[in-house]
Amino acid sequence: MPPVITIDGPAASGKSSIARRVARRLGCTFVGTGNMYRAFTWAVLNRGIDPNDPAAIVAALPSITFECPVSDGETHVRLDGHDLTPDELNSDAVNAAVSLVARVPEVRARLVADQRSLISLGPLVMEGRDIGSVVFPDSPFKIYIDASEEVRAARRRAQGQADNLAERDRIDKQRKSSPLVIPEGATIIDNSAVTLEEAVEQVIAALRAQGLP
Ligand code: DC
Repeated sequence: MPPVITIDGPAASGKSSIARRVARRLGCTFVGTGNMYRAFTWAVLNRGIDPNDPAAIVAALPSITFECPVSDGETHVRLDGHDLTPDELNSDAVNAAVSLVARVPEVRARLVADQRSLISLGPLVMEGRDIGSVVFPDSPFKIYIDASEEVRAARRRAQGQADNLAERDRIDKQRKSSPLVIPEGATIIDNSAVTLEEAVEQVIAALRAQGLP
């Protein structure tokens, strides 16, 4: 099986930016799983479904077609034949609803199966909340990215997004189905006080220490 580097962490911790650069450096395909949950949330909202109504979300699942085409070394999200834009994926409405949709076990089961099948692409860097704990728990290459609450909130403000990080973290950590945890064997890297480039170097050094050739 090709190697999978798992990168987990809380909202706005910088994990996508770090993971994308690590993937480029190591010649792996980058997979951002947060965008997959965001795409399903967009579909739920687009269908007029209440994100607090898990039964209605589950009933809609068979009608949702979802693909992850690859370009520029990373997977993208195509929902019902529509390539979702960053503005759609990161809208305030999606930010407010995504943790509610992501806590539905049937949504997770469907996306975890898709995430595991991406191994056919070859070596991966996959980021999310449950990648090292649930999606690829046997991977020897695990990183947990963190940053202080102040730094994470400041990053979101700088992006001009309304995003209740504390509330999202609370739901992500407390849900019954594969909550956000520090996976066993993961190296914790806090990037509150370092640049993006320094964080990337720290991640690559940690992966080498974990035995990545
Ligand atoms: O990384 P992000 O902020 O784009 O993720 C959006 C939401 O998706 C996050 O609040 C919880 C959910 N998520 C998840 O439950 N499991 C993952 N592997 C990735 C994201």
